[in-house]
Amino acid sequence: MKKNIFSILIAVIIVGLLAACGQSKSGGEEKKTLVMGTSADFPPFETRDNNGEIKGFDIDLAKYITKELGYELEIKDMNFDGLIGALQSGTVDFVASGMSATDKRKESVDFSTEYHHSGEMFVTLKDSKVKSMEDLDGTKLGTQLGTIQEEGAKKLAKTIELKVKTLNKVPELVQELKAGRIDAVYLDKTVAQGYIKEADLAGFDDESEGTPGMAIAFPKGKNSKLIEDFNKVIKEMQENGELEKLQKKWLEQE
Ligand code: ARG
Repeated sequence: MKKNIFSILIAVIIVGLLAACGQSKSGGEEKKTLVMGTSADFPPFETRDNNGEIKGFDIDLAKYITKELGYELEIKDMNFDGLIGALQSGTVDFVASGMSATDKRKESVDFSTEYHHSGEMFVTLKDSKVKSMEDLDGTKLGTQLGTIQEEGAKKLAKTIELKVKTLNKVPELVQELKAGRIDAVYLDKTVAQGYIKEADLAGFDDESEGTPGMAIAFPKGKNSKLIEDFNKVIKEMQENGELEKLQKKWLEQE
């Protein structure tokens, strides 16, 4: 009798296990989605084309990596200033938004390996009297909220007379510059070069301090396996020429 109950028990467990296996198998077949946060105001890394579609280097990079890892990709467009909060609240799984991997940010997010390094520039109108960093004294400088450029501008404002105007979106800053309401925009160098060419502007380099390269950000301490996977694909892309292809497509302006 006891033996009977025992074998029934075993049978039940086996059936249960099989069912669980079957379930996890069918669950694995439908692709999982990763939600990416970005601020699509930063050509050529992320911007909206005429049809309102989000395009750019970071978008292609994220598409390649997630496809390679077997994920579906969903993109959420928000203000740059809100991206780290979105990671912390779990609204997005990762951020690709030209984000510089600073030590300060590393306190609240984890970063992939760096995939691009730019530097900084000050963008002005073509006929501007502001032609170098010495000319910035007494001017109005525009920066994007939540960026390292905002931080840098505020630091600079402690050493010279500088008014800092901070806005949410880069094209708004360029608008302000064109309207003459600010004297210069402090911008990522790659992005600055694009605007200088497209919008017929001028500019000069910030030679004051080096900033870290751009990396993909993840919620802190949550998913080291996912970061490892992303890093593996980035390394693959460095080796198989895919990263160079993206650089040629988006970053090299003739
Ligand atoms: N690299 C700068 C930073 O990390 C600016 C990034 C702005 N990105 C954007 N998509 N608007 O602070």
